[in-house]
Amino acid sequence: MPNETTILVTGGAGYIGSHTVLALQDQGYQIIILDNLVYGHRELIETLSAVKLIVGDINDAELLNSIFSTHNIAAVIHFAAYAYVGESIQNPRKYYRNNVVGSLTLLETMVDHGVNNIVFSSTCATYGIPSTIPITEEQAQNPINPYGRSKLAVEKILLDFSQAYDLKAVIFRYFNAAGADPQGRLGEDHTPETHLIPLILYTALGKYSQINIYGTDYPTPDGTCIRDYIHVTDLAQAHLLGLTYLLQGGDTNIFNLGNGNGFSVREMIATAQLITNRPIPVLDGDRRPGDPPILVGSSEKARQILGWHPQYPLAKDILAHAWTWHQQRHGDRLR
Ligand SMILES: NC(=O)c1ccc[n+]([C@@H]2O[C@H](COP(=O)([O-])OP(=O)(O)OC[C@H]3O[C@@H](n4cnc5c(N)ncnc54)[C@H](O)[C@@H]3O)[C@@H](O)[C@H]2O)c1
Repeated sequence: MPNETTILVTGGAGYIGSHTVLALQDQGYQIIILDNLVYGHRELIETLSAVKLIVGDINDAELLNSIFSTHNIAAVIHFAAYAYVGESIQNPRKYYRNNVVGSLTLLETMVDHGVNNIVFSSTCATYGIPSTIPITEEQAQNPINPYGRSKLAVEKILLDFSQAYDLKAVIFRYFNAAGADPQGRLGEDHTPETHLIPLILYTALGKYSQINIYGTDYPTPDGTCIRDYIHVTDLAQAHLLGLTYLLQGGDTNIFNLGNGNGFSVREMIATAQLITNRPIPVLDGDRRPGDPPILVGSSEKARQILGWHPQYPLAKDILAHAWTWHQQRHGDRLR
């Protein structure tokens, strides 16, 4: 379906951004990616059609001005950020500079150019330690690290800009993005990798001798932490729906994006063992400070208002798609 609408995707060469670009491409949108490639992958983006990659930074106001002056951009999907919790504690200025000041620079330029629609990647980390499960959008936000606080700050800026200017924002609070394109075209490749599923699969591939479990005495059925893993293709579909909502005149709104089902660390490892048919040795270790026992979100609001229905809620599908990708992308390098 040809579609003349042009969308600017910041951070579009990263994990969730690239899967969203794929979904936009399948809908025929014209896509401009702005990514500084600090963590993005040029070679993955170059396999996609109808995509223009601009290598640059959201902190570069001059570049942003020139992009908005020379393209008729209908909306921005804003993924660009740093997202390592531990690093944010060691080096908060890096996180506030990139995530908050960078976002402010982008938003100011959008307002100056009359580009009024933005979809923003926020996170369940803005909730901190939840008081009830499942977490709804109304729950108090008390992030416990600078990364979460940087995302919450941008949420507040977006709400203030929506009040004061003509800006409309869809704020998505993702739970744990996971999996890979079911057709094997894209997948997850973070360096350094801190996410559970890639670490499990790297262990299956032999890159690591074991997977560490941080805490086995939590008040959960098997004693390990429970998290909400949402398939990256389902996240990408939510972005298409959020975009359509804005382009059809929807007002600023906030939505959780999660699976609604939590899986424990041991469940994920056991399912991965079945999918990969390889041994995945584990090392039981101590709890890490700041890890809540259970983080599971309610995405009822996204279902009701956006009509979002995740297609791949099962751990076995998430792991099978990730495994296909991991073997293809990393298997050879590790042999
Ligand atoms: N992965 C998750 O589970 C998860 C969960 C909640 C929220 N998020 C948020 O979703 C977004 C995408 O996460 P991801 O896992 O795809 O991360 P990622 O690191 O794969 O992608 C981020 C991309 O942004 C680019 N980037 C960073 N700073 C930039 C800048 N100043 N200018 C231009 N480009 C820049 C990086 O090069 C990278 O390609 C982030 O905002 C993250 O905070 C991710």
